[in-house]
Amino acid sequence: MKKQTDWWRDAVIYQIYPRSFADGDGDGTGDLKGARTRLPHLASLGVDAVWLSPFYASPQADGGYDVADYRAIDPMYGDLADAAALISEAHALGLRVIVDLVPNHSSERHEWFQRALAGDPAARERYHFRPGRGPGGSEPPNDWESIFGGPAWTRTKNPDGTHGDWYLHLFAPEQPDFNWDSPAVHDEFRSVLRFWLDLGVDGFRVDVAHGLVKPAGLPDVGASRQLRLLGSEPLPFFDQDGVHEIYRSWRRVLDAYPGARIGVAEAWTPSAARTALYVRPDELHQAFNFHYLNTAWDAAALREVIDESLDSLRAVGAPSTWVLSNHDVVRHRTRLGGGLPRARAASLLMLALPGSAYLYQGEELGLPEVAGIPDEARQDPSFFRDTGQDGLRDGCRVPLPWARGGPSFGFGTGGSWLPQPPEWGGLSVAAQTGDPDSTLELYRTALRTRRTTLAGPTATDTLDWLEAPDGVLAFRRGGFVCTANTRETAVRLPARPGELLLASGPCDGGAELPGDTTAWWSVRG
Ligand code: NOJ
Repeated sequence: MKKQTDWWRDAVIYQIYPRSFADGDGDGTGDLKGARTRLPHLASLGVDAVWLSPFYASPQADGGYDVADYRAIDPMYGDLADAAALISEAHALGLRVIVDLVPNHSSERHEWFQRALAGDPAARERYHFRPGRGPGGSEPPNDWESIFGGPAWTRTKNPDGTHGDWYLHLFAPEQPDFNWDSPAVHDEFRSVLRFWLDLGVDGFRVDVAHGLVKPAGLPDVGASRQLRLLGSEPLPFFDQDGVHEIYRSWRRVLDAYPGARIGVAEAWTPSAARTALYVRPDELHQAFNFHYLNTAWDAAALREVIDESLDSLRAVGAPSTWVLSNHDVVRHRTRLGGGLPRARAASLLMLALPGSAYLYQGEELGLPEVAGIPDEARQDPSFFRDTGQDGLRDGCRVPLPWARGGPSFGFGTGGSWLPQPPEWGGLSVAAQTGDPDSTLELYRTALRTRRTTLAGPTATDTLDWLEAPDGVLAFRRGGFVCTANTRETAVRLPARPGELLLASGPCDGGAELPGDTTAWWSVRG
């Protein structure tokens, strides 16, 4: 494990979606025991850290992003002893462990919300309860819509069966939003941070980091505005300046622990400059670069977002992050529209950029989005609440194939909670291991090369653009050059950039770069 306190500045961090990673008890659902057995895969892949999506006690109304107890593991995933074992086994393999923290909302089954529904005034203060508008209070208190579709308010029933107040939920009704004006909420989350830090975690991925603070008076948004996580327009319930004081106080908690424990913001903001505010020196360490994720496979657009990201983050002294896939978006093999060759080219481009990169489980296998999941198998709450935030998210959450055959292709000894396509045996870890042309071996070689050539304390955190034909990105970092051809057809580079280190597809090491191909080169002087 790298010792330096700024390990996170160029770390490759692998996202485990525990429900779909590996099933240790054969019930068809992934769990911590399963994840523990697969840690060697991640060590041999060459990542620096794992981020685990929520494994807390939860009714799973939103895949665990509805937390009923922030200090307990859901029995479907195991128990605290499994979490402690996973952390220490990961550390022994040189992998750091980041856990998900969900501070914008709890589950409706959280003890506080249950007490609030029962009328406890102190507990009600910790959520947003409001009387309705209109005759008899039958209309929601304002016009906000849930990210998952439908109103962002649900009406409660009083203990005597009459209609009560409404409560706010920016996501599903099972996910009531906390009121961050309440000092008890602040105290609770600092305590939750310490609980997991004491157990040995290396950091937190902060869910909806841009959403915690709501504006005074909860003003209407206006009827015609689309409510999307990433909007170009400021919305009153997102990216309020008040959130930053919360992250300053969390940074003090993180800094009180040895070994550089980090915070990563899931902050959907209107611009790279607004995202940079979350990673000022006294706030969190990293923020996901959703602007990059949302950029098409187009050289000019990519160059613009790369420059904007690096410039805005340099201003606050933070590294950029890069991400192509996660559990909320269509897998990039499918989303970028060019199949596996383009996905591989995009991955090599991302891994060449200065900063930290996030990988989503299965992208190292080149998994596509799974289309056509039958409605009865679907679990994503956005499917059940009309037009969801990112479409339907089950297609990127299908359990991983580890073996060529057998029940659930080695995911577990039982089935798989979402159906796996029959051809996934051919994409399994077992099928790809040792095949030099496989995507898995490409990732392994890329991560090894990145570690020796691009990462570490001597690496530059800037890049110099090189002259390149239209449709091609070419940049240099020290003795390393990356060229990425975003066109479908081959192009001729002004000159052969150097010695070929690695390419995402067939490439003869000359000046001609095939379509949808990224090549890494080593240069002297
Ligand atoms: C972002 C998470 O990534 C997503 O899966 C979840 O539905 C929302 N936040 C709400 O917690």
